[in-house]
Amino acid sequence: MKVGIIGSGGIGGTIGTLWAKAGHEVLFSSRNPEKLSLLVTEAGNNAQAGTIAEAAAFADVIFLAVHYCTTDDAIASAGSLDSKVIIDATNPYIRADDGQIQRVPNVSSGLELAQKVPHAKVVKAYNTLPTATFANEHHRADPYALFYCGDDVSAKAIAAQLNYR
Ligand SMILES: NC(=O)c1ccc[n+]([C@@H]2O[C@H](COP(=O)([O-])OP(=O)(O)OC[C@H]3O[C@@H](n4cnc5c(N)ncnc54)[C@H](OP(=O)(O)O)[C@@H]3O)[C@@H](O)[C@H]2O)c1
Repeated sequence: MKVGIIGSGGIGGTIGTLWAKAGHEVLFSSRNPEKLSLLVTEAGNNAQAGTIAEAAAFADVIFLAVHYCTTDDAIASAGSLDSKVIIDATNPYIRADDGQIQRVPNVSSGLELAQKVPHAKVVKAYNTLPTATFANEHHRADPYALFYCGDDVSAKAIAAQLNYR
């Protein structure tokens, strides 16, 4: 599977690396792709780096892992996402005026994303566990559960089989 990572930070870098090491072709993207050289080296031969638009053009599946408040920027930078499967790991948290992280009330970031890119196939997943669990416990004998949801049956099947065990 060809996977484009949009938001190659904590969760995007971790999951993309697991997928690359499991044999998937992974293009990590950044607004500054040159800073991803160490990540690409660590992820191995199936990994490369590029711009956000390059990741979108390359991939069958997009892994969206940016902060909620930068989702619109990321989508705009991606260009067309028509027919792409987007696995959306974002959570609707923002930094409030007092500096505290707060959940945005009454918002489903997955539903919002699906409305913003109506010709893509959005699957919400990977947002319910912390990065450290994916990084450190991905091969434990008693596997953790990952929840996913979306409206497109075929996209959910792809998300379910895109594993790294
Ligand atoms: N951390 C967790 O444990 C965890 C677990 C599950 C889900 N999540 C969710 O995953 C998302 C990312 O969390 P994270 O902890 O991985 O954050 P992070 O390490 O800060 O990574 C966010 C990435 O977003 C990119 N970015 C920033 N501004 C952007 C913009 N304007 N346009 C496009 N890309 C932009 C940055 O890439 P460049 O600067 O290289 O462009 C950065 O690598 C959040 O929505 C969070 O709620 C986090």
